[in-house]
Amino acid sequence: MGTRRQAYLDAMGIQTWAPRGGVASSETETLAPAAAESVETGPPTGLPIERLDWEALRAEVVACHRCSLAETRTQAVFGVGDPHADLLIVGEAPGADEDRLGEPFVGRAGQLLNLMLQAIGLKREQVYIANILKCRPPGNRDPHAEEAAHCRPFLLRQIALIQPKLILSVGRVSARNLLHSTDKVGCLRGRLHRFPETDTPLLVTYHPAYLLRSPEQKSKAWDDLQRVYRILHGRDE
Ligand code: URA
Repeated sequence: MGTRRQAYLDAMGIQTWAPRGGVASSETETLAPAAAESVETGPPTGLPIERLDWEALRAEVVACHRCSLAETRTQAVFGVGDPHADLLIVGEAPGADEDRLGEPFVGRAGQLLNLMLQAIGLKREQVYIANILKCRPPGNRDPHAEEAAHCRPFLLRQIALIQPKLILSVGRVSARNLLHSTDKVGCLRGRLHRFPETDTPLLVTYHPAYLLRSPEQKSKAWDDLQRVYRILHGRDE
């Protein structure tokens, strides 16, 4: 294992094992920087969401008042990253930091997510990061079913525009919403699912915030990340 990858694993708090099947590869460290997604926004178009381009979709999300979270949010958190990414990460909802800064996964959990990505040779800018909800639930409570239902078309359109090779669903709320399941993450991780609407391959892993609270689960998350790497590189058996 290269010293750089070892440093990321150390920073993640993973010291006990070496990667199986050789995750380390210099090719992953030389990927071209990702193209920036347009940040321009315009007035909502009145077109159906499934026909919106990135710019119009962002405008629609920014102006959204489909549920009462619009009254308590500072701003909607649209998503960030490479609009043509192979890997789409889907979390739960913005927290306080994300609500303030307008970008997903920028707090402590986001820092761990960045390290997890770096451990498989990916920079944050090379993936796309979005959430089930675009707006912060007050007090970081779990999303209500109707809030998730109102937001789903936005995520669906993001998935259709990105056309990722793989969706990595992080945490219980994300996994249950994406897969319409009531199972625990511990049951859902470890097998390849398909996102129902687009048939996109989908893996489930633990939420980085959970890993910060339960570091003993990091080795399982590392197993999941290695599988992500193998799928992205066409090496999944
Ligand atoms: N947790 C999430 O699930 N998403 C974020 O954007 C931040 C924290």
